[in-house]
Amino acid sequence: MVSAIEATSPPVPRHVAIIMDGNGRWARARHLPRTAGHKRGVEAARRAIEACAQRGVEALTLFAFSSENWKRPDEEVSSLMQLFVTALEREVPRLMANDIQLRFIGAREAFPVRLQQRIAEAETRTAGATGLKVVVAANYGGRWDIAQAARHLAERVQNGELTLDAVTPEALDQALSTAGLPDPDLFIRTGGEHRMSNFLLWQMAYAELYFTDVLWPDFEACHLEAAIAAFSGRERRFGMTGDQVSEASHA
Ligand code: IPE
Ligand code: IPE
Ligand code: MG
Repeated sequence: MVSAIEATSPPVPRHVAIIMDGNGRWARARHLPRTAGHKRGVEAARRAIEACAQRGVEALTLFAFSSENWKRPDEEVSSLMQLFVTALEREVPRLMANDIQLRFIGAREAFPVRLQQRIAEAETRTAGATGLKVVVAANYGGRWDIAQAARHLAERVQNGELTLDAVTPEALDQALSTAGLPDPDLFIRTGGEHRMSNFLLWQMAYAELYFTDVLWPDFEACHLEAAIAAFSGRERRFGMTGDQVSEASHA
């Protein structure tokens, strides 16, 4: 539950979640293959990570590959898999040097073994970091996450570890892949589409939504600043009235 005191926005969101969209269109506008857009997208992700770390954001979740993205041409899917491997090899030392923790959410068992190994290594090597938590959503779907959490709770009920009464929103929250992270306060989608595309459906119940036409490879620190500025100007009411919120913030 959010208390009245917490309503209204702090200047910096604790958790930012981004749908990094527009790589393909960025490439097409330059008569380049879509893969070139994805490559430039990795650089934009690095900039966003650095900017969030500098801004004192606690957690940044990046949507890298949705459970629906397997429908893309085989060539694009396999070049994305290869890109994830090389990006991990290249970026992990920098993350370690900057005290940044990396973890993955999503059904990773569907990925090539080599990628699964790189993911596990990256998580182990950055596990002790105390700075920004970067969460990469890969083969992730919001419905998958809710279903796997429900299955986990159902198993515990079946084993007699949990009573039916204990199946609450809080218990489900703890069974999600994002357990332990605050819910995203600020959701950003680049690339001009105004949809959720099966991202963090449960967790974003009260996120502030921010959409920009900027294509992901063009996303710079100033665009993140603009999103944070828009967030800071919003009044988060969490169901209360505006008067209640201003009374609480002046108390
Ligand atoms: C997002 O960019 C990256 C992934 C989904 C991997 P897109 O590849 O969706 O770019 P557009 O939407 O085609 O421009
Ligand atoms: C969402 O982008 C997934 C990622 C950014 C990884 P898409 O480009 O796949 O979304 P849709 O299909 O246009 O909704
Ligand atoms: Mg897209």
